[in-house]
Amino acid sequence: MSKSIKAPLWEKLQAIVEEKPVSFHVPGHKNGTILPNVSWGKFREMMRYDLTELPGLDDLHQPETVIEDALALARDFFESRETYFLVNGSTVGNLAMILQAVSAGDYILVPKNVHKSVVNALELSKACPIFIEPAYDETLNRMTVPLFTDIQQAFTDYPIKAMIVTYPDYYGTTFDLETLISYVHTRGALMLVDEAHGVHLSLNYPCFPASALSLGADFVVQSAHKMAPALTQTAYLHVSRHYKGETHCLKHYLQMLQSSSPSYLLMASLDVTRAFLASQTTALLDQVMASVKAVRSILSGLESAYLIKEYTTVDPLKITLQPKLSYTTKAIEAAFRTAGIYLEFITDQDLVFVHGLAPFTEQEKLQYAVNYVNHTLKKQAKHDTMKVVRKKVRHPLTKLVCDYQTLASFKPVFVSLNDAINYVAYESIIPYPPGIPLVLKGQRITKEDIEEIRQLLAQKIHFQNNHITQGVYVIKEI
Ligand SMILES: Cc1ncc(COP(=O)(O)O)c(C=O)c1O
Repeated sequence: MSKSIKAPLWEKLQAIVEEKPVSFHVPGHKNGTILPNVSWGKFREMMRYDLTELPGLDDLHQPETVIEDALALARDFFESRETYFLVNGSTVGNLAMILQAVSAGDYILVPKNVHKSVVNALELSKACPIFIEPAYDETLNRMTVPLFTDIQQAFTDYPIKAMIVTYPDYYGTTFDLETLISYVHTRGALMLVDEAHGVHLSLNYPCFPASALSLGADFVVQSAHKMAPALTQTAYLHVSRHYKGETHCLKHYLQMLQSSSPSYLLMASLDVTRAFLASQTTALLDQVMASVKAVRSILSGLESAYLIKEYTTVDPLKITLQPKLSYTTKAIEAAFRTAGIYLEFITDQDLVFVHGLAPFTEQEKLQYAVNYVNHTLKKQAKHDTMKVVRKKVRHPLTKLVCDYQTLASFKPVFVSLNDAINYVAYESIIPYPPGIPLVLKGQRITKEDIEEIRQLLAQKIHFQNNHITQGVYVIKEI
């Protein structure tokens, strides 16, 4: 069945802008007319579309007309029971989704490599997280997916009310989510999915992994801005058609956590993006896949890095490379940047390129950049790269030393990294990108954790903890 490619909210916004309305209301830029044209002409132009809840433009928190029409088309496209527009990214989606699913004292199963918004939501909910350490891929040297046996063990040991997973992960890796969902449901728990990197999976295109909603997840959050042509901060939150429960709490948290003045530019972008996705045909997506192949072929000409193989379980739009011995990701990325090519992210061992949802048109520039990187790195002195040795001891299930409420009753102290060993972390320690916590708030810090932090610092990997080189906040009393 073909889906509508109309974008009612965007169409209404345009119609109002064309009427050239005179503003005696907020926002204070008065349709862009206040900023001097000389300096900020282009910015003024954009501001004309930054309208507010004028008659005819509806209200995100109580949608009845044009926003409701846009949401209805989104429900139809995503085949959801309910879809919400988010103007603060998957971040707010994860917060609302988790807050409505679990309350203080409830057990929730969480793979350790989740985004920090999930960890923040856990703290706000005061739930009891059981963290699963995902399997470690020795070849890729990174955490991948949680092991099914560990999940079963967690359900045996604890009365788990909900489980959340990241699907796909930052590298586009997916796993057998369908089996997991049916297991979680047989245990009477809710399945929440952070599909921030997978809005395009909803296209049901055979070369992309299946979407979480199509596999039966109860609640799914998707960033629109990461993989689809949408403005930054836009995301969707979906409730599955299989889910029969109430969603009153979800709406409550969304209106609590989202602005009471949501940006119409962002909301219109969500409407347009859904229409764009609905307009994608198999033939168009085949062209995207041909382009991915062409980009991979150009990147395979790099002398300093090799392409990670393609797998059917990995999103083909995520193209990952790893440096060859004696080259660093930093040096390769810097050379690409000088040649005008910007990557999604690098870690100490990965370079990740994200292909768009249309054929790439700047092959010549990319080829030039690859030649430039080859030439530049040849001239640079080669260093023996120190590979960060990841922890080999697996701790399949981790419960925090104490719950978040108890943790909050202690006073944190700042100690040097060496002195932090054996104390309970009062902050999650997060190398960024990709933002996966290395130590979680409430977890006891081990000698191995500190060694890994030191190795990452030696590689000049950035941490979200600004003071990490001096030390960390811990609780000494527990
Ligand atoms: C897995 C994952 N979840 C959630 C988020 C938050 O998404 P947003 O930037 O849309 O708030 C990110 C952002 O990088 C992410 O990688």
